[in-house]
Amino acid sequence: MKNLVVLSGAGMSAESGISTFRDAGGLWDKYPVEKVATPEGYSRDPQLVINFYNERRKQLTRVEPNRGHELMAEWEKEFNVTVITQNVDNLHERAGSSCVIHLHGELTKVCSSREPQNPQYIKELEPQEYEVKMGDCAADGSQLRPFIVWFGEAVPQIETAIRYVEQADIFVIIGTSMNVYPAAGLLNYVPRSAQVYLIDPNKVQIQTSRSIHVIQKGASEGMEELSRLLSGLR
Ligand code: APR
Repeated sequence: MKNLVVLSGAGMSAESGISTFRDAGGLWDKYPVEKVATPEGYSRDPQLVINFYNERRKQLTRVEPNRGHELMAEWEKEFNVTVITQNVDNLHERAGSSCVIHLHGELTKVCSSREPQNPQYIKELEPQEYEVKMGDCAADGSQLRPFIVWFGEAVPQIETAIRYVEQADIFVIIGTSMNVYPAAGLLNYVPRSAQVYLIDPNKVQIQTSRSIHVIQKGASEGMEELSRLLSGLR
């Protein structure tokens, strides 16, 4: 089976009702990114940051995977699929994708404020625990922090992601403005021989000399079209 590697971003979940970050009216218009998505913002006002992610978690219980997520999960019948996502929601998993790498963390997990990446303190929350409070502690006694990679922090999963991308026969970019590194740089590791597809309803600026098959559509419609194209490539 061919290796199909996906890089997904916020646009993947837009049709499920989760806002993107940089589109007009996106999350970063409503919440200043430096307040809610940086370690400095967290030290200044942990309550605000914890509330922000409590809200995001609550939203997870109200949304469902869309047709795009579902079609991606169905590709596993025909390809070795790896989904590398910048999204912190769990919609790929809920649609049935079995290999999902979260570059920017996961809303459903919490960790230690002192050592956010120490696996000993990373914990999966049950839906009834989604509302984290000030004073709730990790096993090391520090405040429970959202397991999210903030701006200015290292992206530990990038090395694993690169290893998959280097083996790709087909690479699909979907729903990302390709503004944030190192995620956007993954394209540089795609073998020259691989085919690259991009699904996005808007024009995405990408610095590359390689040819990319652009499907200028939303995630669900774009995935339907790509599934038809790929059925010839099994
Ligand atoms: N289907 C597919 N793509 C869509 C849809 C849709 N229905 N609606 C919007 N988009 C596209 C937009 O055109 C845009 O190119 O999704 C992209 C969203 O871009 P961003 O908001 O910049 O999100 P993303 O690229 O995932 O951001 C990367 O930045 O703020 C951080 O950590 C956050 O993981 C995030 C990272």
